[in-house]
Amino acid sequence: MNKKITVALLSGGVSSERDVSIKSGDQVFQHLDKEKYHVLRYDPRADIPKLISDAPGIDIAMIMLHGPYGEDGTVQGLLDLLNIPYQCSGVLGSAAAMNKLTSKHLYEQAGIPSPAYLAMEANERIDTGACVRRLGLPLVVKPVCGGSSIGTSIVYSEGKLADAAAFAFAQDDTILLETFIQGTEITGAVIGNNDIEALPLVQIIPGADRGFFDYAAKYDNAETTEICPARIPDDAAANARNLAVRAHRALFCQGYSRTDMIVKDADVYVLETNTIPGMTTSSLLPQAAAKAGMPFSMLLDRLIELGLERHRHAGKNRCR
Ligand SMILES: Nc1ncnc2c1ncn2[C@@H]1O[C@H](COP(=O)(O)OP(=O)(O)O)[C@@H](O)[C@H]1O
Ligand SMILES: [Mg+2]
Repeated sequence: MNKKITVALLSGGVSSERDVSIKSGDQVFQHLDKEKYHVLRYDPRADIPKLISDAPGIDIAMIMLHGPYGEDGTVQGLLDLLNIPYQCSGVLGSAAAMNKLTSKHLYEQAGIPSPAYLAMEANERIDTGACVRRLGLPLVVKPVCGGSSIGTSIVYSEGKLADAAAFAFAQDDTILLETFIQGTEITGAVIGNNDIEALPLVQIIPGADRGFFDYAAKYDNAETTEICPARIPDDAAANARNLAVRAHRALFCQGYSRTDMIVKDADVYVLETNTIPGMTTSSLLPQAAAKAGMPFSMLLDRLIELGLERHRHAGKNRCR
């Protein structure tokens, strides 16, 4: 019998998405095939010293952390130092995707359409009139480094902009103001190392009383309808799947990612790319994988294989 693969499963952490991370970690733990894997669990909030001392016996890490100090390259850098492979993007891709302003720059370079925006620092005076003239109304205000819509709001009148900015600044010293795109929200997951496969798109319809896919809508399934494959015209779907692959490449992501987009008429706008998307069985990427014939346990097997394969060829990929 083959020796079991020792997997370090990291969940919890210190970001505002800790609760979500614990849910992802619990479900990943349940579904990792115990015939194949010996699973050790770590919560980086307390267990980094233990992870370091266990490192020589660990074959791969599954990082199920969302947000800063988990999804942003910090933990990935630690694992690189410890020579532990992992299932997700490396330092560069993780950091680039976590920072929505850096992502904007890289999308622009790659010709990937995303909503018009302004970036603002906490010490700047906000000229609400100029912002509204430039971006129109409604507009979206969000922290540059965040997730799960925490600190994000939609502003329908100039008078509400300063409060929305203060709300976002509570999360981050840099915020983005973006033109609100009224359309159909979708998300596009991709998986693979050199051959990157786009999974079926998932359409997201927040409950009637929610203006957008906010924190409550994300984690209260009763409020949100998710449809896979998304009910959008074939040409928009082909375009969106292609953009998900291009966004993954443009941000130097690896292994897998999930790009959030909005379809408006014939146009598709990219909002952001997630390098460690939610991983409960009902989360968006696992839904898309299931639709593509990859149930949750098989998806975990695939992510582990891809991580191990990248690590075997890491010599030529050290800067990612
Ligand atoms: N420019 C935009 N136009 C319309 N809706 C947006 C826009 N930006 C964000 N949203 C809404 O806010 C949600 C969260 O924004 P997103 O950029 O995906 O950040 P995160 O998921 O990291 O919090 C999106 O899922 C979408 O519902
Ligand atoms: Mg998002």
